[in-house]
This record gives sequence, C-alpha cells and structure tokens, in this order.
Amino acid sequence: MSSLTATAQVTDDQMRRYAKMIYDVAGIEISPAKKQLLSNRIRRRLKESGITDFEQYYNFLKKLPISHAEWDGFLQEVTTHETYLFRDDSNWNWLRGTFLPEFQKTGKNALRIWSAACSTGDEAYSIATCIADGLRNPAAWRVQILGTDIGVGAVQDAQEAKFNERAMRLVPDALKRRYFSQLGGATIWEPNAKLRSMTKFRQHNLLDRLAEPSFDLVFLKNVLIYFNADSKKRVMHNVEQVMKPGSYLVAGAAEGIGDLMGGFDRIHPWLYLRK
Ligand SMILES: C[S@@+](CC[C@H](N)C(=O)[O-])C[C@H]1O[C@@H](n2cnc3c(N)ncnc32)[C@H](O)[C@@H]1O
Repeated sequence: MSSLTATAQVTDDQMRRYAKMIYDVAGIEISPAKKQLLSNRIRRRLKESGITDFEQYYNFLKKLPISHAEWDGFLQEVTTHETYLFRDDSNWNWLRGTFLPEFQKTGKNALRIWSAACSTGDEAYSIATCIADGLRNPAAWRVQILGTDIGVGAVQDAQEAKFNERAMRLVPDALKRRYFSQLGGATIWEPNAKLRSMTKFRQHNLLDRLAEPSFDLVFLKNVLIYFNADSKKRVMHNVEQVMKPGSYLVAGAAEGIGDLMGGFDRIHPWLYLRK
C-alpha cells in the first residue's frame, strides 16, 4: 500500500526525471505545469503496484523494459486515449467522396491503410466502414487496415471491438445498421465480420520505424500534439518512409507538423499528398 498522502506531489527534480523518462520512451512531452496531474496519475499506479513512494516507483520503472505490463499501465495513465468513430466529418467526407472514387479509377485492387496511434480502434473501424460501403465490387479487393498504438491495453480493446453508444454517436444511421450489430439488445455495438476481416491491430511505438511498408493512406491524428519538435520530426520521418509516392496522410488539424512536410503537398490543413 502507498504511504503517500492523497495529495502528495513529486518534487521538481522527480518531475524533471519522470518527464525525461516518458519523453525518452514515448516521445510525449509533459510540461512542469502538469506536476499535480502527473503526481495523481503516478499515485494510482503506486496503489496497483504496492510501491510506497515516487522515488521507488521511478527506479522500478527505469529498470523495466518498455514491453513490461507496468509500463503499459503507466503509459495508459499519462496518455489520453480519447477517440470515437467518425471523428472529424471532413475526413470521412473526403474518404468516401473523393479518395475511394479516385482510387477505384486507378485499376488497382489492393489498398493498404495505417491507422497510427489508433487507441481503441475507432478510427480503423470508421475507415473499414467507409471502404466496405464505398467499393463498387468489394469481393475483388484486398484491403488491409493496420491499427497500431503504444498501449497494449488499447490494442487489446481494438481487437475486441466493442463500442458503446458514445463511441458510436457519429456513425451515420444507415452505416450503423448495415455494418454493426448490437450485443443482445444492449448498448454495445460490434462491427460485422466483413469489417473485422479488413482490420488487424498490434502494438507499435511511433518513435520506431514500422516494419510494414507501402501504405496508400495513413491516418495520424491527435497524437503528435503531445510531442515536442524533435520527436515529431522523428515520427514524421518514420511515417514518410512507409508511405508510397502518391499516397495520402490524414493528420489532426492541430498536430503541429506543418514545418516537417517537405516531402508532401498540402491539400488541406489536415490532408497531405506524399510526393
Ligand atoms: C487521443 S488518442 C488518438 C486516437 C485516434 N488517432 C483519434 O484521433 O481518435 C492518442 C493515442 O496515441 C497513443 N500514443 C501516444 N504516444 C504514442 C507513441 N509514441 N506511439 C504510438 N502511439 C502513441 C496513445 O496511447 C493514445 O491511444
């Protein structure tokens, strides 16, 4: 059990060291102003792990490989997983109204998409829904949507694919009826087998190069806002390497990557074409 009081905070020195450790592992920048928040989050992990103070927990984490379950628990606390299906209208209007019709004119029959930092898979299933609905002859296509996230727990949730009403609230009714079913009349929705067959999920840190290359489309949203300039640069280099010339990047509108897009043409503040 933790011996710390319910409001105990890390010292300034511990704050610096925790922030550096989080930055080194995940690229995420935690500002000194977040000291109270970080302390609260660490205290929750202390309860779980039976460690009694901030210093011991720091030393404990420092020795563990990033693949250890405690790192996953810790990163779950310090990152935000907020996501839902059909987030940001403009993305889906473009995907359904422009990208898919154009892509079908190319004569290709394979489509590879990466939902990077996919959290619980909502974005990947939104992509799968649009594709299932937008391809003229779906049986003739090989579609692979890869969802990755640093959080092992998030990836497991994505694989389970159970979405509550809140996560589903922006899914157009017709698509909801066609591609999802409600579990036992409850408020939980599941994607159908067709959507599941297009998607796969695995753990991956954006600071590392992804092994699978050659994507036609990449979604990278609501993650780099938490990174500093150096880690954004590293991530964008990694992402660019796995995109085909002529492929598209759908980014968050506030990702702060404008200066790093030399290899792309900007179509919209949130859409880039790989040269
Ligand atoms: C706010 S969610 C965004 C989910 C989805 N892209 C969306 O826009 O709805 C941010 C996700 O980024 C993940 N993340 C943070 N740092 C990461 C890293 N270094 N590599 C991969 N994923 C990371 C978090 O685990 C979290 O699930």
